[in-house]
Amino acid sequence: MDEHIAEAIGRPDLIRVDDGLICLRFETMKVVSALAAVRHLLDTGAVRPGATLLDSSSGIYAYALALACHRYGMGCHIVGSTTVDHTLRTQLAILGATLEQMPPSDDLKLDQKRRVARVHEILREHPDHFWMRQYHDDIHYLGYRAVADRLYAEAGADGGLTLVGGVGSGASTGALARYLRRRTPDVRLVGVQPFGSVTFGSEHVADPEIIIAGIGSSIPFANVSHAAYDAVHWLSFDTALAGGVDLLRRHAVFAGLSTGAGYATARWERAQAPGRTTVFIAADTGHRYVDTVFARHAEAAPLDTLAPRMVTSLDELALPWARMEWAGAAAPAAAVAGTEGGRGPLQRT
Ligand SMILES: Cc1ncc(COP(=O)(O)O)c(C=O)c1O
Repeated sequence: MDEHIAEAIGRPDLIRVDDGLICLRFETMKVVSALAAVRHLLDTGAVRPGATLLDSSSGIYAYALALACHRYGMGCHIVGSTTVDHTLRTQLAILGATLEQMPPSDDLKLDQKRRVARVHEILREHPDHFWMRQYHDDIHYLGYRAVADRLYAEAGADGGLTLVGGVGSGASTGALARYLRRRTPDVRLVGVQPFGSVTFGSEHVADPEIIIAGIGSSIPFANVSHAAYDAVHWLSFDTALAGGVDLLRRHAVFAGLSTGAGYATARWERAQAPGRTTVFIAADTGHRYVDTVFARHAEAAPLDTLAPRMVTSLDELALPWARMEWAGAAAPAAAVAGTEGGRGPLQRT
């Protein structure tokens, strides 16, 4: 029996959608991460009961933190991006979380910079608030340990595991790979990126379509463990849309755009290494994407006609889909995170 809805929402489903292809499906992925992070802060005395936790978010982390704060009786203040929608705004208000939303902007970098500047301002005004730093503090890894253990137990690792997932803060893919590798050495990690993101060096290639919410970044994140990734795929919006529509049509899984990108990637990777078990992460449901993605299903290219262009250097990256062996390389220069978190050296748990 769960003590709070956050525990139920945080627990993912494991669905074998095809031979050797497993969907790790979250209703909202970051709930499991925020719950464990808040629990850890309380257990270690880093925050006092009832304190206000603060962070900036473009969507699902805001909801996750609000649920975790509700669960543990903490205050919650969110500096939200322009992408926080009406449904989320309404829920946050009733859950007792306060939201400050940035003015509308098509410029993701400006939006991210404004949010970080505002967080610093709030911390100056309220030194008693605690900044969660979801992009930098790997207390956000902790909650994925139980997920990795369950995945290992249920999926089995005979023949090797390949884990595929979108990289935003990097916590989910980085943590799941870290904890799975403690169980079995043969785990390949494949990161999924949009074009135009500094994280794995695609900032010089623009995608004219809508951004894929939650993955990629215009600023460096310390929670991305570049050395953990074996391969990286970059997908255009159109390719992710084809993946999302195929996943719903073929397997009846209604999930978001980062999942569409991850699923397309996972199908391709599985075809290259059929003996392995390939797991892809579904971070959220499709509801937020009805108008922008699923209503356009007639435009979706048949997924089996699409394949990545294999590249060996970042200069060769091009739309609509590219893949590179990352082979544990370090972060590109523009993705090296400093100590912008402002609480001194990063914790490594
Ligand atoms: C829809 C969606 N997919 C994937 C991710 C990436 O997750 P992570 O931040 O753990 O890398 C996010 C993060 O915000 C997201 O919102």
